[in-house]
Amino acid sequence: MPFAHITGWGMYVPEPVLTNDDISKLVETSDEWIRERTGIRERHIASETDFPSTMGVEAAIRALKVANLVPTELDLIICTSSSPEYIFPATACLIQDQIGATKAGAFDLQAACTGFVYALNMGAQAIRSGSIKNVLVVGTEVLSRFTNWKDRNTCILFGDGAGAFVLQASDQPGGVMSAVMHSDGSGADALNVPAGGAHCPATEATIREGKHFIHMDGKEVFRFATRVMGKAVTEALEQIQLTTNDVQWIVPHQANYRIIDSAAKHLKMPLDKFVINVDRYGNTSTASVPIATIEAIQKSQIKPKDKVVFVAFGGGLTWAAMVVEWTGPLPSKKHVRVEPYRWFARLRSYIRRILRHIEGFFSRKEL
Ligand SMILES: CC(C)(COP(=O)(O)OP(=O)(O)OC[C@H]1O[C@@H](n2cnc3c(N)ncnc32)[C@H](O)[C@@H]1OP(=O)(O)O)[C@@H](O)C(=O)NCCC(=O)NCCS
Repeated sequence: MPFAHITGWGMYVPEPVLTNDDISKLVETSDEWIRERTGIRERHIASETDFPSTMGVEAAIRALKVANLVPTELDLIICTSSSPEYIFPATACLIQDQIGATKAGAFDLQAACTGFVYALNMGAQAIRSGSIKNVLVVGTEVLSRFTNWKDRNTCILFGDGAGAFVLQASDQPGGVMSAVMHSDGSGADALNVPAGGAHCPATEATIREGKHFIHMDGKEVFRFATRVMGKAVTEALEQIQLTTNDVQWIVPHQANYRIIDSAAKHLKMPLDKFVINVDRYGNTSTASVPIATIEAIQKSQIKPKDKVVFVAFGGGLTWAAMVVEWTGPLPSKKHVRVEPYRWFARLRSYIRRILRHIEGFFSRKEL
């Protein structure tokens, strides 16, 4: 059975930064309150030209460069987002087209903020089955467009960004070692976007009532998160007979500093084993685990052979944890250039649209 290694990683955050002081001009709050209750100081907000797909593409291209893999070698793209480009088509397909992953299947996975860990696990399982070799997992969020900037309960929390990992098959042991995934739909209304789906399609009234924005019972979500995080980590470790003593780094979902602190206490682990960057990005939902991981790699905190645990929770309710033995790019004699594929992809997409148009014209004549 092949092992599934994380061999590439990339992140992208839009440039504009929104500080707590900026938010205090929109709603009745203060920098002090937000920092004390959440640990957040600032977050990045997408500009008008940033979309989940374009941000996901930036992260994906960077991840492919690290993995030394060209897009045409990808077998599968899983995109996970709580703020997808459309209900359908899948944001994964838009990314597939923009990077020119001509061989890849592509689909979206919806598990709110837990999505990235779920998607990594699905990608790893597909590799372990032996049916495919190269998977791209992307978490990408423009939550600012689903945020009610008049609701101080939610608008202080979220930020925009994207992160991507490349998973690859190898005979060498390591990579994804274990994972647990959980859900509890009885808590669906604790964190949701009530309108815009089939249950409550868009109408003037739903827009007037702000039902297309994120709604949250903050206290309920807080209680749930502190209940499940530590437990999920322990479960994932127990699956492979490891304990927290074997772990070098925990990368938790970056929702709230106090939630991470409570998980550390539950696990009886020092907080300095936790990667924390919620102060500078806020909660970027599905992008938070990869962004935090990548920053830890850049600071030379996470190193090859380290045992790293990813743990996340979110709407659904959903939660998951995964243990990984960190590896990095697979050894290779070739050195690939990823960037040209992107420009080729743009041309290819344009030509395919024209051909589809011409084909449509002639087939109409035939009918
Ligand atoms: C949202 C959250 C920060 C609120 O913190 P809290 O400590 O639970 O705060 P409360 O809701 O109890 O509110 C306490 C008081 O502060 C006020 N308050 C709420 N938001 C405020 C804000 N942004 N600024 C200032 N005051 C605020 C409340 O009105 C309340 O006032 P009151 O006591 O006069 O009624 C916290 O519940 C949380 O982080 N929950 C988890 C959310 C999360 O992680 N969601 C994403 C999951 S993926």
